[in-house]
Amino acid sequence: MNGGEKQTGAVPGRKAALRAGMALLLFGGLAVLLISGDPAQTYPWIKALHVIAVISWMAGLFYLPRLFIYHLDAEPGSVQSETFKVMERRLFQVIMNPAMILSWILGLDIAWQIFGFEGIWLQLKLLAVMLLTVTHIYFGVAVSRFGRDERMGTPRFWRLVNEIPTILMIVIVLLVVVKPF
Ligand code: HEM
Repeated sequence: MNGGEKQTGAVPGRKAALRAGMALLLFGGLAVLLISGDPAQTYPWIKALHVIAVISWMAGLFYLPRLFIYHLDAEPGSVQSETFKVMERRLFQVIMNPAMILSWILGLDIAWQIFGFEGIWLQLKLLAVMLLTVTHIYFGVAVSRFGRDERMGTPRFWRLVNEIPTILMIVIVLLVVVKPF
């Protein structure tokens, strides 16, 4: 039972945003503290926070296209469609945007402080992450369009698009862990 309160309603939405804001403040504050410290000591901590942020970002990139596929099944204006709009908007704004920004800030800090932007693996990784960011922005456009009841793409299209973050993730992890070049 949810005590009669609709979780897609405005009040739970504000509470969720507040909780997310507090988590972000804590996480962001910790990141600022670490970034301003001695890189030799803070490096493993910054990398750990980077990986946590990246996992949160990727979770959204994998799930959002699935939501679009189900959203296409729902009649515009139906309760189902309105629920999908809330789910998509909250996932994108509350989780994915902050997680992407933190991934970039923490990753760029290590890239600069520890590696001085040297290494083919790092430059290729940055290129792959830029492509991932373009995908993220495209998903943001789709969230806005679905929010205006515009149908965007087909289930098949979104299933194909869903593979982009998967392929980029595999490339990125291989580059950063194996460092083959
Ligand atoms: C947003 C821009 C990003 C930048 C600038 C960036 C940069 C970096 C840098 C410089 C490192 C340190 C590498 C080392 O210490 O050997 C690192 C670690 C790591 N990054 Fe990123 N990264 C970004 C996004 C991502 C994404 C999207 C993923 C996953 C899909 C990812 C996965 C990882 C992993 C798993 C590590 C730890 C590697 C290890 O300890 O061996 N990063 N990143």
